[in-house]
Amino acid sequence: MTLTQDDVLRRTGGREVKAIVFTAEQIQQRVAELGAELTRAYPDGDLLLIGLLKGSFLFMADLVRHVERPVVVDFMVASSYGDSTISSGNVRLLYDPATDLAGRHVVLVEDIVDSGNTLRRLLALLISRRPASLSVCALLDKAQMHSPFEELKFVGFEAPPAFLIGYGLDYAEQFRHLPFIADLA
Ligand code: IMP
Ligand code: MG
Repeated sequence: MTLTQDDVLRRTGGREVKAIVFTAEQIQQRVAELGAELTRAYPDGDLLLIGLLKGSFLFMADLVRHVERPVVVDFMVASSYGDSTISSGNVRLLYDPATDLAGRHVVLVEDIVDSGNTLRRLLALLISRRPASLSVCALLDKAQMHSPFEELKFVGFEAPPAFLIGYGLDYAEQFRHLPFIADLA
């Protein structure tokens, strides 16, 4: 489906975007491939996908429909600010998964890796809970912005060094609902 500029403006409430970086069709195709990669990577054992909210909500919903083996889904909400938070180490968790990680293959599902700081801290916390294995599946990776992560085994797309919105990604809580990913600038 080709989107006209009007289609975009109707969804953004009149805010123009610089470019559509990944179309809804490209995203859906790549997410299906990632689901197949996950299926192949975990032939046995208990698999737990933990989505980091809010950014991963659409990605997770689409991804699990392409995982063709048993899987358990949970979410995590992390924040660097706010008062009513539970602090675990360096990460402030607004919601910490109730699911037991011990002995399970755990995959942290992220919208985008930028500096990698959030991820680094969450991985340290999750590894302390003794999963059988721990990996990251990120839809987008700004690979030039961080040193390589051994755990980052599943990546949808390498992201350009731009501020992206849509498909879960927000700018001041706006634009998460867009079915495509756009460069806001
Ligand atoms: P990091 O800790 O620097 O890797 O930041 C990762 C988080 O910052 C992501 O989970 C996003 O919520 C947010 N983020 C990073 N880059 C972008 C972007 O281009 N658009 C929207 N949010 C972004
Ligand atoms: Mg965000």
